[in-house]
Amino acid sequence: ASTTEVDLSKVEPGMQVMVLWQGKPVAIVNRTPAMLASLKKVTNTLVDPNSDQSEQPEYAKNEWRSRKPEYLVMLSICTHLGCVPLYKPEQGSVEPGWAGGYFCPCHGSKYDLAGRVLKNVPAPLNMTIPPYALFEGDKKVLIG
Ligand code: FES
Repeated sequence: ASTTEVDLSKVEPGMQVMVLWQGKPVAIVNRTPAMLASLKKVTNTLVDPNSDQSEQPEYAKNEWRSRKPEYLVMLSICTHLGCVPLYKPEQGSVEPGWAGGYFCPCHGSKYDLAGRVLKNVPAPLNMTIPPYALFEGDKKVLIG
C-alpha cells in the first residue's frame, strides 16, 4: 500500500516508534513538554531553524515541524548520505550541552527533536517530513 496507518496510543510520551512507509523508515515520536521546550533553546545552533530549505508539507512548516506539537512524524533518513540517525532524546547523551535529538552514526551529523540539522556537520538539510493526516481524535496517523 502507498499509505501507512499507525495507532498513536501505542507511542508513549518520550518514545519513538519506527514504521515503514513506501519502504522508507518513518520515526514517530510523542514529544513531552520538556522535549518541545528544547526546540526553542537550540534555535541559534541550527542551519535552517525555519525549515526554508527542507522538504515538509505546508502544515508542518512551523517550529515543531508537525501538525500537532507533540507528534513528530519524520523520514528518519540523514540528509547527508542516507543513514538512519539514532534517536537520542536524553539531554547530554551525545555531548555536553546536548538538548536531545538525533545523531547519525555514519559521519556524525546531528539534528534536534524536530529533525532540524545542527551547524558544523556534514548533513546539509533538515530531515524530511512526509505528508500525513491525524484522525480519530488524533489517536491515529495516516502517512502518505
Ligand atoms: Fe549521516 Fe553521513 S549519512 S552523517
